Amino acid sequence: MKKFQVALLYSMFANAPQEAADEDTPWDKWNELDSEGSVAGYERALREMGHDVIPLEGDHTLIANLQKYKPDICFNTCEGHRGRSREAQVPAILDMLGIPYTGSGVMSLAIALDKAMTKRVLQFYSIPTPAFQVFVTGNEPTDPRLNFPLFAKPSLEGSGIGIMAKSICRTPRELREQVRYLLHAYKQPVLVEEFIEGREITTGIVGNLMPRGSWIKEKKRLEAERALQAQSVSANLEPASGNGHSANGKKAPVREYYYSGVRVLPPLEIDFSPLKDTAPLYGSEIKHNNPWGPKYLCPAPLSAKLTSQIGRWTVATFRALECFDFARVDYRIRESDNLPMVIEINPLAGLTEGLSDIVIEANAAGISYSELINMILETALRRYGMLDD
Ligand SMILES: Nc1ncnc2c1ncn2[C@@H]1O[C@H](COP(=O)(O)OP(=O)(O)O)[C@@H](O)[C@H]1O
Ligand SMILES: [Mg+2]
Repeated sequence: MKKFQVALLYSMFANAPQEAADEDTPWDKWNELDSEGSVAGYERALREMGHDVIPLEGDHTLIANLQKYKPDICFNTCEGHRGRSREAQVPAILDMLGIPYTGSGVMSLAIALDKAMTKRVLQFYSIPTPAFQVFVTGNEPTDPRLNFPLFAKPSLEGSGIGIMAKSICRTPRELREQVRYLLHAYKQPVLVEEFIEGREITTGIVGNLMPRGSWIKEKKRLEAERALQAQSVSANLEPASGNGHSANGKKAPVREYYYSGVRVLPPLEIDFSPLKDTAPLYGSEIKHNNPWGPKYLCPAPLSAKLTSQIGRWTVATFRALECFDFARVDYRIRESDNLPMVIEINPLAGLTEGLSDIVIEANAAGISYSELINMILETALRRYGMLDD
């Protein structure tokens, strides 16, 4: 592939603003930010493909640095620090300067970071998501149509921030206390949803939906590309079923799903059964302190029907939010009727080598870490018409 000058943009934990913390500041406030190790991983992966990489912090120094280095494209991983739409800030700057970048644009990132707004969009498209209400003062009467237990979380966060055992509220009193705590500690609206008892699944997607005609060309390109990959796993170029497990329990080859230009990675199940003393929630406690506590099953041992249903909802959610290049959609499968419900979409999903969910999913599909990072870059380059074929 052609070589490019790639500016790698990040929001590093070590560079987080030194705001005065008091005893009310929650311990997980900066958990979205990248470690030095994660950033080094992105850089290595991009360099492996021969690109020139310019690592830059996505803060107030960014505009001057971009004008100095003049990259061809930016690999954007910036979570931002402040403001309701912090993940959309760097893309807004890049749009303003006319510099191409990987991943979703301003509108999708702003909506996806607002979980309640995302759910309104999902409802418009009839994509199943738990019933909900937003609290901004803590004194609002609870919508009588919501059935306990309810689940309370900050509406504008990610990475499990503000998710804890007390998020599960079994009584109006527990709900009132948790909503007031979250409002006070995280200083943003609180999203209250029906608590979905059931299996935890997350599914990554890479690519961009294409108009019908161009799909034929893309299909041929993908076929040719895969024919070249001696180590390729069995692939299916149409939406298809397959759960990765055969009837006798032996692992079957991983099936992949392609929908007109996007590739749905095998779903990952987070199995909390090994954890005895931690609530079965994919929150800060597990993501940050005990990532190897749960079991990660990929491909998730789901029926063919559920796997393809989740694949279709993932594409539908990606399309509803008008995302670009890659994303990850989180689900709970409601135990009572086996319905997968979308909890949220992460257009800026974590990409830490060996650890992040989408990286585990790519690995299960035979895609190495460096290949995944470069697939995302290539998808963006193609979207901008910067590659010849
Ligand atoms: N309505 C819900 N019912 C059951 N569990 C939930 C619900 N909402 C969130 N969770 C749990 O909390 C975790 C984090 O919630 P999520 O909305 O995905 O926030 P984050 O952006 O921090 O990942 C989920 O992966 C799930 O384990
Ligand atoms: Mg999530």
